[in-house]
Amino acid sequence: AKYLYQVGKNNSLLLISSLKNSITCHAWKGVSCTHFRGITTTPFPEFQGDSRFKSHADLHNASLQNPDHFWGTLAKSRLQWFQTFNQVKDCDINKGHIRWFMDGKLNASVNCVDRYAEKNGDAIALIWEKDEPGTEEYVSYRQLSQMVNKMANMLKSFGVCRGDRVAIYLPTSPVAVAVMMACARIGAIHSVVFAGFSAEALAGRIIDADAETVITSDEGVRGGKIIPLKQTVDAAVANCPCVKRVFVYQRTGNPVPMGKLDISLDKEMASQSDVCEPEKMGSEDLLFMLYTSGSTGKPKGIAHSTAGYLLYAGITQRHVFDYREGERFGCVADIGWITGHTYVVYGPLSNGATTVLFESTPTYPNPGRYWEMVQRLSLDHIYLAPTSLRLLLKEGNEWVKKYDRSSLRKLGCVGEPLNTEAYDWYNDVVGDGKCEVVDTWWQTETGGIALAPRPSAPGAKIVASKPMRPHFGIQPALMDKDGKELTGSNVQGALCIKSVWPGMARTIYGDHKRFLDTYYNPYPGYYFSGDGAHRCEDGYYQITGRMDDVINVSGHRIGTAEVEDAMDDHSQVAETAVVGFPHDIKGEGIYAFVVTMEDINPEDADTLRDQLKSIVKTRIGGFAQPDRILFTPGLPKTRSGKIMRRILRKVADNKPEELGDISTLVDPSVVEILVQKHEMI
Ligand code: WT7
Repeated sequence: AKYLYQVGKNNSLLLISSLKNSITCHAWKGVSCTHFRGITTTPFPEFQGDSRFKSHADLHNASLQNPDHFWGTLAKSRLQWFQTFNQVKDCDINKGHIRWFMDGKLNASVNCVDRYAEKNGDAIALIWEKDEPGTEEYVSYRQLSQMVNKMANMLKSFGVCRGDRVAIYLPTSPVAVAVMMACARIGAIHSVVFAGFSAEALAGRIIDADAETVITSDEGVRGGKIIPLKQTVDAAVANCPCVKRVFVYQRTGNPVPMGKLDISLDKEMASQSDVCEPEKMGSEDLLFMLYTSGSTGKPKGIAHSTAGYLLYAGITQRHVFDYREGERFGCVADIGWITGHTYVVYGPLSNGATTVLFESTPTYPNPGRYWEMVQRLSLDHIYLAPTSLRLLLKEGNEWVKKYDRSSLRKLGCVGEPLNTEAYDWYNDVVGDGKCEVVDTWWQTETGGIALAPRPSAPGAKIVASKPMRPHFGIQPALMDKDGKELTGSNVQGALCIKSVWPGMARTIYGDHKRFLDTYYNPYPGYYFSGDGAHRCEDGYYQITGRMDDVINVSGHRIGTAEVEDAMDDHSQVAETAVVGFPHDIKGEGIYAFVVTMEDINPEDADTLRDQLKSIVKTRIGGFAQPDRILFTPGLPKTRSGKIMRRILRKVADNKPEELGDISTLVDPSVVEILVQKHEMI
């Protein structure tokens, strides 16, 4: 049954009667928000009155110079422990050895759900902004607690144990959040796989994690379209001998075939008790893993710890966005990405916030969707990706102006560089010049925001299009080609971090050597991000983009090797090379140079292109399909056989005049062919 709710003061949820649709009442909100506008700082109550910390700079310095005091104090006041820790940290960055809050015992679900369900159970935890506008559903902390406990009992009753890995392939929904929390409650490690990945990509992740349990839904709904999730899981599980059970949640209720591994989640949950003792987890027990692409090899299962991750998620959500009690936080990311983990789920819930679960797309049913949602749900914060800004600004300002956005205070973005045009539009049109735009830089590996304009000293300005400042605990460093740290301003190099902070990743699941090789061995004594950055005249940081063979398409990390690998499988393909190229909307597009076994007739080219795209869709997912495919008799290679991607990037970027020295190529003439062919496709 659907219920009719009324939203009362402080986002508390009042159940009126069980009718078909839910409504909101938020007349009170417009009033409470307006006087919060303008430049704000976020005081740390923990350090107030401490004469050592008079300014933001004092506090930031303390977070680097005396991290034990800084993080130890916050960990005690912000997290609820079964047993407090004896040692704040045990880290050796030279060895990539990271441990925080030694001997502490806690449970993430208690921190994110129980403590708020007990304090004010009627407060809204989740607003499920379903695909169809106006059909949102509200879940209070009390209701979430019931779901989590039942779900945890269900998992246990089917034999899911502490330390087991659970693969989650679900649409962004309250059930997905409850499943993540239920895993945390019983000490299972969740591995959420974005529900846009193909069966093959999902199978690879299930096998790598050796997961016995998969949780999915009958179907997904996005942009008015039905997505056959269960069907994809069936195809994946057929190749995963480790899988013993598949729980199926009814998102649409359309019939799907149920096999011998399949269990109805809705039915099993209903009969479970809503009391489940939380496991007492060690600070360093893994909370979850999440796969992300690297430049080579298969995707990496980035693993995060319980206490450090949770603390960092909560601190950054509260202080970067200046989140205040009773406000509504609208991070529109899918739960399948790290942004969804940290700023849809763990960050907001650990602060007792009201968080939005956005199931739809920025353009469904029209390009006004975000702003109509802001008005309807009266959101105080929105956190999105630059790619959607670039897409929406092309549609004209009317789609924004039509809706009342006066509830908004902070406009966040993440995933790719925020270009000036998009920054200006976000600031001037969406925010009417009255909100703050916070461009946040971070990664799956950093666990939470590492660079952002806020928090900062009172009155400190925000400079357009830069994440600007290091967060508490973060000490950025830029390295030159010889591995030496660059000093001063107006320098550009490889972006590293030379401090340790609680939210940083602990390992790559099952491959600690690869973890060290990727992040710690390139610059001993530093964490290497893979990005390049510029420290500007004013001392602020600006991100220049990936330095490795990773392409950032609409904020999704795609390894060139993965796409090449997929296309290489085609019987007519001899070799491929994939590069990124500037794309108006996506930031970067995917450009594939393909060497075929035999020359192909021009009339067959489109068929082969379609086949190659379809292979990529099957192997990885639709979002990784190349935008452009060029057939060529050869690739530019050095004598040692290395493909010169620098040249391919220039060709793809329409800059043949910038090709530079091509004399070291085995066959320089191939470059001319590429330039000509590029102009033709
Ligand atoms: C990569 C991390 C962290 C959530 C989203 C993606 C790029 C991220 C910014 C920004 C320029 C950015 C970097 C980074 N990136 N934020 N504000 N400005 N680039 O997480 O999939 O782990 O990707 O996204 O290249 O390395 P992810």
